Order: sequence, then C-alpha cells, then structure tokens
Amino acid sequence: MVQSSTQTTDQSRTSWSFNRRTQYTNFEAHLVSGALGAEISGVDISKPLSEEVVADLRQALLDHLVIFFRDQKLEPAQQIAFSRQFGELDEHDFVKGMEGYPELIRLVREADEEGMNFGGVWHSDVTHMEQPALGSVLYAVDVPPFGGDTLFANQYLAYETLSPGMKKMLDGLTAVHSAEGPFGPQGRSKSNWKNMQVETSDKALIEVEHPVVRTHPETGRKGLFVNGTFTLRFKGWTGAESEPLLKFLFSHASQEAFTCRFRWQRGSVAFWDNRSVMHFALNDYNGYRREMLRSTIAGDRPY
Ligand SMILES: [Fe+2]
Repeated sequence: MVQSSTQTTDQSRTSWSFNRRTQYTNFEAHLVSGALGAEISGVDISKPLSEEVVADLRQALLDHLVIFFRDQKLEPAQQIAFSRQFGELDEHDFVKGMEGYPELIRLVREADEEGMNFGGVWHSDVTHMEQPALGSVLYAVDVPPFGGDTLFANQYLAYETLSPGMKKMLDGLTAVHSAEGPFGPQGRSKSNWKNMQVETSDKALIEVEHPVVRTHPETGRKGLFVNGTFTLRFKGWTGAESEPLLKFLFSHASQEAFTCRFRWQRGSVAFWDNRSVMHFALNDYNGYRREMLRSTIAGDRPY
C-alpha cells in the first residue's frame, strides 16, 4: 500500500544528535527552539571583545546557527567593529550602504508603506554571489509594537531528514542562482522598498552556480543550499523541470520543526550563519515603522 501521508519528516528526528551547548566560558546560551537559535546573555557587543570571547561566540554560532543578543546599544561604527571580529565585511551589490558606512545597509519600512517587505521570502543572503556571506548581523533600531518577527530554519536538518534516495540525487546536483528576482530590471525592488536605497541593474542577471548540498566549511556537516529568492533552476535542467523539485525543497526546508522565531525589541541583535540557515522576515505590521541595520560578513565559495 502506498503511504498517503503528506508528512515529509519524522518529527522525532528534528532535535537529535545536535551538540547544543549552553555553558560557555564567558556567557550562557538560552535555547530558543529545539531546532536552532540561542539567546546569549552577559556580553556587551558594543565594546571590543577579547579573542577568547570572539572564539566562544563563533563556537556558539556553529552550535546554534543563529545567536541573539538583547538590549544592545550600537552606533554604526560599533556594529561594524563587532562584525569585523568575525571576518571581512561585504558591501551589498544592489543596496547602497549608509553615508560614511558603506558596509551597513538600512532595511527600513515606513508606516505608510504597503506591498512586499524586504526579506519576505525564505532565503539565504546574497547567494547570487560566487562567495555568499558567512553570516549577517542585524540590529534593531526601530520596531513595531507587534509583528515583524524573523524566522530562521536549520538547513542541516532539512538535508538530514530527506530520504536516502533524494539525498543521493541532490548530492550530485548543482543549482543556478542570480539576483534577478529582487534586483533585476523587472525585479521586486521596482515596486517595493521605496524608502531603501536599492538599485535594479542588468548586473543582477549574472548567473552563478552552487552545489545544492553544501558542506559547511567549519563543521563539516552537509546542509541544503537552495533558496526562494536567488535559486533559479538546477544546472542542466529547464526551469519548468526544476520548479516542482525546488518547490518541494523550499517547503520541506522551512517546515515548522526546523525553525525558530525571533521577537525583536529595540536593541536586539541577530547574528546568523548564512551557510546553514535560511531566514524569513514577516510582513505583519502594516501601519508601523521598522528599521534595522545589517552588516554582512564575507564568506567562501560553497563546495
Ligand atoms: Fe536576508
């Protein structure tokens, strides 16, 4: 008999065999969900940190995939200095940086804006680049009284819960990515994100290739590496052939059991590992203003 269940995953396998430390030398980590995410307490990230604290935070990022801080007060230069302790910073190809701080982009939605928000599709950042970001640091400057949460999804779990047959097929596949969807001449930024300094350009049509299954350069774990913003199709497949499998993978990879959800307050910071998570910005705060600052740490070529 063919099993008709639409359940794609054995839910009991979603928080297993995952090293989630809570005690570090210099701080504690409070888990946000069974799948990923931890709030770090006891670190003021506005100040220069010792090598030991930076190493511990880096370990926490690898253990939890996304780490959160509360009640921080960051000037632009301090956010840049914090982020630089984890690597070189990238400037965004299509969103202009802040005056005097090209490595910081302002993600703002004014109270009177309608339409799609920035980041409102499950995605990893900047996978249109040959070397997509290691991670992003997002700082909440202004938040709505409710809504505007960000969701994160663990892409190790997304891969590990697939069947052996699907894994085998995906292991040999390459995906084609570009920034055409958001930033191409007909991209979403044409009619959205009016208060951000976004440009559309033919540059967004440039295609790059990444493996569909990515080996994390620091943990050695495999994760799914396709996303709804930048992935166009599989290499050697047509768009029409690719679409059903991509659709399945996007929905599989963002299912509830793989996620955590972060409620922002003014001064909250999220720092995610862009190599092992996807994220999604909820658009449920019409009539209110939200402003975030993002810095992006340069990554390496996926393999
Ligand atoms: Fe994003």
